[in-house]
Amino acid sequence: MRGGNQSVVSEFVLLGLTTSLEMQPVLCLVFSVFYVSGILGNLFIVLTVVSDSHLHSPMYFLLANLSFIDIWVSSSAAPKMISDLFKERKVISLQGCIVQMFFIHVIGGTEMVLLIVMALDRYVAICRPLHYLTIMNFRICGLLVVTAWTIGIIHSLIQLVFVVNLPFCGSNEVDSFYCDLPRFIRLACKNTYRLELMVTANSGFISLGTFFILIMSYIFILVTVRQHSSNGLSKAFSTLSAHITVVVLFFGPCIFVYLWPFPTVPVDKFLAIFDVIITPFLNPTIYSFRNKEMKVAMRRLLSQILSFRKPF
Ligand SMILES: *[C@@H]1O[C@H](CO)[C@@H](O)[C@H](O)[C@H]1NC(C)=O
Repeated sequence: MRGGNQSVVSEFVLLGLTTSLEMQPVLCLVFSVFYVSGILGNLFIVLTVVSDSHLHSPMYFLLANLSFIDIWVSSSAAPKMISDLFKERKVISLQGCIVQMFFIHVIGGTEMVLLIVMALDRYVAICRPLHYLTIMNFRICGLLVVTAWTIGIIHSLIQLVFVVNLPFCGSNEVDSFYCDLPRFIRLACKNTYRLELMVTANSGFISLGTFFILIMSYIFILVTVRQHSSNGLSKAFSTLSAHITVVVLFFGPCIFVYLWPFPTVPVDKFLAIFDVIITPFLNPTIYSFRNKEMKVAMRRLLSQILSFRKPF
């Protein structure tokens, strides 16, 4: 396998979610509705925060950044998945597959670090309220956002460097609706045990690590709120339980995909639906639409847009 590119496989066949013909229109409708409303909801949040000077604070900038990333999370796999539903042969080129994996890991890694940054922001606001404005200023906030993207890109590059030159010569069927490292690596015609270990260590570690940090930060916040006031607890609990739901929905599939040691279980592609379609749709509902200031600002923006339209 030395000396140049010996791949004979230049495209992969995605087996998709289901081969059932009756299911295809239903899935297409459901996924399209979730995808489009997720995009519109997140776009609206970004527009609201950017256009409304009342919302120019670190917390809302972070929310807008999360919405911005969520637009790309769903766009990394959903459009192809939906348009593939009706195709008999769902193919993706080798390069397309690598680009998709790079993209998914940049976005996924960045989203995870951003969720930690948001938890840190809430932790400082609730547990150190007097120092909040000095700790979380615009400079630090911007720096944290840049750090999140840098970590996302490095996380993705490190893994991709090891797999771009893998030789493929045998089967080219990927039993999923998108390309990702675990299945991609197993198709290579060489011993990939160490590569699989590398992906588990990298992607598995970042998923599991982030999950624990987030859960710990929520527990920390709850304990702090409990010590200070008893009536704040139920409100904090209702907010945090919503966050925990989303975090479990987002990280559960990731942890399963990268840490489940037995490759033969095909449930991971169904779990991935949560990450590609459901959480980018839920995040705005959970993080932004429940926020009073945000709701007021959205109504303001909406009435502005509508009044601009009137003359026409
Ligand atoms: C993301 O956060 C940065 C830093 O606070 C902010 O300048 C930027 O406008 C935010 N991006 C979006 C899309 O809201």
